[in-house]
Amino acid sequence: MPVFADVDTGVDDAMALVYLLASSDANLVGIASTGGNVDVDQVCRNNLGLLELCGATAIPVSRGADQPLSAAMRTAEDTHGPAGLGYAELPLHQRELTGYDSAEAWVRAAHAMPGELIGLVTGPLTNLALAVRDEPNLPSLLRRLVIMGGSFDYRGNTTPVSEWNISVDPEAAAEVFDAWGRAADAKVIQQHQLPIVCGLNLTENIMLTPTLLSRLAAASGATTTAMSVLDSRGTRSTADNTLIRTLEDAMRFYFEFHFDQGEGFLAHLHDPLAAAVALDPSLVQTRAATVDVELTGTLTRGMTIADWSHRWGRESNAHVGVGVDPAAFFDRFIERVGPFARRLQADR
Ligand code: BDR
Ligand code: CA
Repeated sequence: MPVFADVDTGVDDAMALVYLLASSDANLVGIASTGGNVDVDQVCRNNLGLLELCGATAIPVSRGADQPLSAAMRTAEDTHGPAGLGYAELPLHQRELTGYDSAEAWVRAAHAMPGELIGLVTGPLTNLALAVRDEPNLPSLLRRLVIMGGSFDYRGNTTPVSEWNISVDPEAAAEVFDAWGRAADAKVIQQHQLPIVCGLNLTENIMLTPTLLSRLAAASGATTTAMSVLDSRGTRSTADNTLIRTLEDAMRFYFEFHFDQGEGFLAHLHDPLAAAVALDPSLVQTRAATVDVELTGTLTRGMTIADWSHRWGRESNAHVGVGVDPAAFFDRFIERVGPFARRLQADR
């Protein structure tokens, strides 16, 4: 399955990309970088470094817009670390970005395989909104679109009601939902082409713990030291597998952030869930709804609203994720990423 990923890498975006690279049923055809967790140039560096680490150097990486469509840019180094990957350091490389930007990369990828491409967005929707401005037929050109973003009948993580990816660029998110809504109205797309939206109500069920990380290391054949909340902050991984060591160093920062938020010594794997759903939508239960984004509320800007009962009288423009089995997700994640890490190490 050809997949195009638009990311703001970011600890959990990195885990999502590794999952795609580890999945034999996925062909990652391109990566769009968008500013979000860190600024767009750092996201580009992270994407290129991660591909180098994973021996996937042929995958094109594009740079996205500097800024949201109209909001001021914000980043989240407190959540993801100064460079976006927690305590991890990525390898040096000589690779370059594509000569075209992320919006054009979306359009090129969709045109190259009309009706086949699976789009995945795990960052703000700026690039995708710009791509739809350039190519209004994008909704009908994609086979499937999966978005990590929003929060449905559930609290936010950036304001009391808004989720980070939507909150960074609410106007872009509104344009994307509107574009898919218009395509549904015009009957130029089928139900399976409506975006599957994985909001916090879904992704916060996916809690990675030190025990699960130890299971991942074991599945790779690595020897490591189990992480503990009692460890000194910033303790570095001792894993003898390079990919596992990198992921553990990245995840520790994310664990510490979640701990400081009162969530426990764990981390929500928002973006890896969305990546897994991109390859297999049956991992989640969804409900069709009309989704829109609050742009003007004095307290609620960036809130995603699902009109479950069609009170607005508008066609459904999304399948909103409402249920997931975390154990099934983690089994799949570990059975793919563990052996991938083992293979990479053997090739070193
Ligand atoms: C989303 O925000 C980012 O910090 C994460 O990478 C994820 O995409 C969760 O709200
Ligand atoms: Ca992200």
